[in-house]
Amino acid sequence: MEELDLILKEGQIVTASDIYTADLAISDGKIRLIGSHLDCTAKKIVNAKGKYVLPGGIDVHTHLDMPFGGTVASDNFETGTIAAACGGTTTIVDFAIQPQGATLAETAAQWQEKAAGKAAIDYAFHIAITDMNDAIMKEMPQAIQSGYSSFKLFMTYDGFRVTDDTLLKALKIAKEQGGLVCVHAENYYIIDYLVKQFKAENKNEPIYHALSRPNLAEAEAVNRAITMAKLAGAPLYIVHLSCRESLEELKRARALGLPVMAETCPQYLLLDEDKYREPDFAGAKYVMSPPLRHKESLEPLWKGLKNGDLQAVATDHCPFFFQGQKEMGRGFFGQIPNGAPGVETRMMLLFGIGVSGKKISLQKMVEITATNPAKIFGMYPRKGTIAVGSDADLVLFDPARSLTIIKSILHEHVDYTPYEGFNIQGYPVMTIAGGKIVAENGTFTGKAGTGNFIKRSAPVLI
Ligand code: URP
Ligand code: ZN
Ligand code: ZN
Ligand code: ZN
Repeated sequence: MEELDLILKEGQIVTASDIYTADLAISDGKIRLIGSHLDCTAKKIVNAKGKYVLPGGIDVHTHLDMPFGGTVASDNFETGTIAAACGGTTTIVDFAIQPQGATLAETAAQWQEKAAGKAAIDYAFHIAITDMNDAIMKEMPQAIQSGYSSFKLFMTYDGFRVTDDTLLKALKIAKEQGGLVCVHAENYYIIDYLVKQFKAENKNEPIYHALSRPNLAEAEAVNRAITMAKLAGAPLYIVHLSCRESLEELKRARALGLPVMAETCPQYLLLDEDKYREPDFAGAKYVMSPPLRHKESLEPLWKGLKNGDLQAVATDHCPFFFQGQKEMGRGFFGQIPNGAPGVETRMMLLFGIGVSGKKISLQKMVEITATNPAKIFGMYPRKGTIAVGSDADLVLFDPARSLTIIKSILHEHVDYTPYEGFNIQGYPVMTIAGGKIVAENGTFTGKAGTGNFIKRSAPVLI
């Protein structure tokens, strides 16, 4: 047989359904053989004994090089994908945000250009429709055909948000054409009213960002989006679901058999609203939308993942430097750019706290970080599992390695991590993307520009 590129010896292979010991052979970027004591040679052999071998992480929610809130997210496609690789993520799905007046084709081309020659891992795009009209609606089928099979619609943010009728129309087209609509669900008017009220009362500190976006503002919008999806007979994916009230809406819909799916993010599982009270404006580091919630929302979200009520964990990686960017909002929380970094820490937190802390099983971690994201966003089984013929995108975890997360060990192009001081048990010691070792022990060993655009198919509903 052809010469193999790489063999991983005696690792514990983990999929969404199994854990077993095997050798894994790779050539030309694909998994070629899986079996015990494979009798073959390769250019490189890695002893994976004592390590878990997982499908590489798929992060279906990143914002690289995105103009937002009067500034631009600080990771570009080079720094952001290098950080992802170092953290065990091998595919991202970023949001191509439609500039006002642009066509979907122009939007896609613009974001392709941002990624070309820069991405160190594979990438795909959702198209965020911000300016809907008849011509854009007519363009949606072509976008789906071209591999942009999911769309994001914002129910809040001036400049981005769409009205309910637009959401309904988009859902109908997605349903007819085999696409998927994702929503940022928050009630614009509740937020607008509370922001103006706090401003008038001279309440300008970061905590008022959270207080102006209550749980119910999210849960109401989740319920409304579900209602639209039900009317359209369409599937729906809710991004960054953050609180238990929204989870209840999701559970109710799923109990009715509706094809509604949702992701949450590490920040909503591990951090809470008290962060906004950190002194010296440090609370601004956690200003994101939806905001961090009360402690009481954390355990229900873990439970939601464990029980399958929530289908995925993505990051909403949207970094802004504290110095110079977050600081734009020193005088008023409404001017703090919304978003926080997380693309590099997702996998280590889910393993190091979620699995090691017995909140979820190792198979569940694979399901929510790789298998379900690949299925929902039309990349399965090319990605999201460990099987012969699948892309050789893998991450090796050493369960014996413990680590304290500090900013200086991370590659995200930003001056802080929300997870500073977090202790994790288990660490991603090697990342393999497209059959190449792209990161080892927290060092990037790959090459920027080697990632490929992934054309995605219709969603598999979970
Ligand atoms: O605060 C956030 N989440 N920033 C990124 C944009 C979005 O809403 O996903
Ligand atoms: Zn052989
Ligand atoms: Zn959003
Ligand atoms: Zn986002």
